[in-house]
Amino acid sequence: MADKDGNQLEKDYHLDIRPPKQNFHVKGAEHADWGMKDRLSRIFNPATGKTVMLAFDHGYIMGSTAGLERLDLVVPKLAPEVDVFMATRGAIRTCVPPTFNKGLALRCSAGSSVLDDDMSHEVIGVNIEDAIRMNASCMAVQTFIGAPGEKSSIENLCKAIDAGNRYGIPTLGVVAVGKQMERTTKFFLLATRMLAEFGAHIVKTYYCDDFEKVVAACPVPIVVAGGKKVPEDEALEMAYKAMVEGAAGVDMGRNIFQAEDPLAMCKAIGKVVHENYNSKLAYQFYRDVKNKIK
Ligand code: R5P
Repeated sequence: MADKDGNQLEKDYHLDIRPPKQNFHVKGAEHADWGMKDRLSRIFNPATGKTVMLAFDHGYIMGSTAGLERLDLVVPKLAPEVDVFMATRGAIRTCVPPTFNKGLALRCSAGSSVLDDDMSHEVIGVNIEDAIRMNASCMAVQTFIGAPGEKSSIENLCKAIDAGNRYGIPTLGVVAVGKQMERTTKFFLLATRMLAEFGAHIVKTYYCDDFEKVVAACPVPIVVAGGKKVPEDEALEMAYKAMVEGAAGVDMGRNIFQAEDPLAMCKAIGKVVHENYNSKLAYQFYRDVKNKIK
């Protein structure tokens, strides 16, 4: 094992050198099998290589959540504007028609609620057969690097990756942050790289300073979480900066469904992710759609 202390932390990210050109549009998946690539192509739009995921899995730890009180009313309306739904099997089966026919990031870890002070102890809550039955495009498993439940959450991730690899289903490794957990560049560099090295095909994490270093050091695509609700222009600015610095998309929840106009917000995020709108233009677009000018 490498020494823990006195390690040199950085040498060179070669930010001026692009990774080698590949033919497949998803980073790190050039050598994946056909089925895996087919599912990744449901997640990452082959035309842009990017994705807009709508995360509405909050109920699995928070119960009914502001903006998601009625999944059946809120979620289907947003379907045309997203590439992927990220949700639990219970929410999908009950509130999303199977004609949705887009990417599905199936939340497969579970284990504690907001009532628990330490939420880092999860289990795999969905078996591979049910993920196949639901035609999941990927399985989402949360890891708690640096928290008491670190080891078991890594075990959950590795088990999901092994099971998914048997059937060509990618795994989305979710970097959790918690009350006592760091949100530094150093932490996200560590956590994202660990998840990719365990075999996660996609990593979900938060935007941070020097985000381009986090992207450069992670050999698979990074999608950016939204986090707590902020004003719409700020959320668009964060998404824009993340995309410019190399994110392969966003996986946003509260900043979409808690927005004043969730559909307009979804459309505006899509403009940033797939059409390179800057945040100012995207915010103008959001307001125009909200005010029904467009
Ligand atoms: C994290 O594991 C879950 O996917 C969250 O429910 C999701 O990331 C929350 O999205 P947001 O922070 O954008 O509301």
